[in-house]
Amino acid sequence: MLTKINHVGVAVKSLEESIPFYRDMLNMKFAGTEEVVEQKVRVAMFEIGESKIELLEPTSPESPIAKFLEKNGGPGVHHLAYEVDDIEAAIAKLMADGARMVDEKPRNGAHGTRIAFIHPKTSGGILTEICQCGDGHH
Ligand code: CO
Repeated sequence: MLTKINHVGVAVKSLEESIPFYRDMLNMKFAGTEEVVEQKVRVAMFEIGESKIELLEPTSPESPIAKFLEKNGGPGVHHLAYEVDDIEAAIAKLMADGARMVDEKPRNGAHGTRIAFIHPKTSGGILTEICQCGDGHH
């Protein structure tokens, strides 16, 4: 069902302030920024081998990322994302196995992906995303 770690999601206050560490100090390949209106975030992606680091900046105080920053007392690791070939099948299997889902249906993620979150109650306190890459995007 899972094929690899697609990305690690990191909540930040400011993309502008956070990008230089990953791009210039760690020399990761910067894959650009994108706003995901649905989730009230701006996202910056960095490629590291077959995986990515996803920086998430809130665009509104109602953003789940704004709430995370407040609860966490600042920036930190927000979620882990595993890649799946077939997200509908993956959700169906998880639910059949008793997983509590934040998203029982896939929603749109950054860069043409379709994503769903597993509730941290099921995943041992770690917000866990499954994602299926969009057509034409790696
Ligand atoms: Co993510």
